[in-house]
Amino acid sequence: MTQTTTGTTVGDQILHDSKLNSMVDEMVERIVEQSSQITDVREPNPELKESFQDLLDRCAAVKGRGLMYPSLGSGAGNGALVEMADGSVKWDMLTGIGVHFLGHGNPKVLKAQLIAGLNETAKHGNLQTNFGAYEFGERLIEHASKGSNLKHAFLTTSGAMANESAIKVCYQKHAPASRVLAFEHCFMGRSVTMCQLGDSAAGRQGVPLSTLVNYVPFYTEAAAEQMGGANKFIDYAVGRLQRYINRYPNQHACFIFELVQGEGGFNVAKREFLKELMECCKANEIAVWDDEIQTFGRTEEMFAYDMYGLGEYVDVLCVGKMTQACATMFTEEYNPQAGLLSGTFTGTTSDFTIGNALIDELASGGYYGKDGKFAKHHAEFCKMTRAMADKHPDWFPEVQGSHDIVCGVGGMMRMTPFGGDKAKIVRACRVAYDEGVICFYCGHGPFHLRMLPPLPVMKLEDWARVFARLEVALGKVASEV
Ligand SMILES: Cc1ncc(COP(=O)(O)O)c(C=O)c1O
Repeated sequence: MTQTTTGTTVGDQILHDSKLNSMVDEMVERIVEQSSQITDVREPNPELKESFQDLLDRCAAVKGRGLMYPSLGSGAGNGALVEMADGSVKWDMLTGIGVHFLGHGNPKVLKAQLIAGLNETAKHGNLQTNFGAYEFGERLIEHASKGSNLKHAFLTTSGAMANESAIKVCYQKHAPASRVLAFEHCFMGRSVTMCQLGDSAAGRQGVPLSTLVNYVPFYTEAAAEQMGGANKFIDYAVGRLQRYINRYPNQHACFIFELVQGEGGFNVAKREFLKELMECCKANEIAVWDDEIQTFGRTEEMFAYDMYGLGEYVDVLCVGKMTQACATMFTEEYNPQAGLLSGTFTGTTSDFTIGNALIDELASGGYYGKDGKFAKHHAEFCKMTRAMADKHPDWFPEVQGSHDIVCGVGGMMRMTPFGGDKAKIVRACRVAYDEGVICFYCGHGPFHLRMLPPLPVMKLEDWARVFARLEVALGKVASEV
């Protein structure tokens, strides 16, 4: 939190109170000291079995169905290791689908949380706020504007809500255009509109359809190969886009770009593919809306559009997950009229203090670029996966509709054992959980085992420890088959 003035308000005095600040430092130190007991994967504590099951039953009663994993944290962790309420410790290679990118028990996150507690306001909104919310927005804009024309940020509490704001901004700018273009296999969130854009039938089961969407295929190496090469695929996709535009002239408000597909399977497109589609949008006055809710921070640049060098095309952009507070960013041209965007909450104080700490860490940690730490982690993940496949070729048969058994970029990592069969991949995730590795699946067929690990707190050597556990898990699934 930044002070608004220098010691002239009571708020500033509290924030800069040396006693309070040293208490915060002491608390962080104490928590880190306790957390340092967590050093490796641990089995559940048998003494906690009953009470843990009781907690799970209560969760299921509240939710109306059981949790996918028996996953309830104890409130402690150390780096990439997280302790569960049953006393077990696991490698957290999923981080709540990418939320806890700075890992567990991170002193920077702990400090940001405690400092937030000095603020009497837990929640900030559009009518009642402290400056912390806008300081976070400024940070985002500062980094986003280096490679794009993005100029403003509207803050909100979920990725879906950031996307809802984005689509409204696009609709207003291009009114009365009412159609949306999207990629096949995209995912945008779970609001009524976003589940209609998302290319998943289960995600909109029973929801009345009110949003007009035209889908363009997303680039994958496998699809390009099938079509006779990258250029042929790109021509085909741009041709499809042009046909929609011809069929519905001036009726498309925006094209939603997920530059690296998340839920759709960690599919990484070629720059040329994205660029040609974006150019076609520009030529036809269709907004380029970039959903970086899953990609932000974890590719080879802070913003995926920078990795592709495509920032000049982006009109509207959304970030979320690891940023804690979510944001819709837009250029001056897309700044909507008053009244379009608001809401009770922009976020909690700690969303902003942790969001700021995260952005500062990302900007200064040597993480980005082809030789950055994230690229090195990705290379290690690929190397270990290939070594496992060489050792156990029967676990990694050829995958129909996929180019390789390992894919993704930076902190978006996927592998495809068991030919991408859904039941076996889901089972592999479940057994891996019991063996001490939290991961998840993605894709719509073939299915993949995916990881969104807390790379800033991982060492390259950790991968061997994670893979040792994973090998046991996949071996168990293979023998069940
Ligand atoms: C690309 C993308 N957009 C939007 C969302 C929705 O974010 P939230 O779950 O915070 O609403 C997600 C979540 O997985 C996502 O991956």
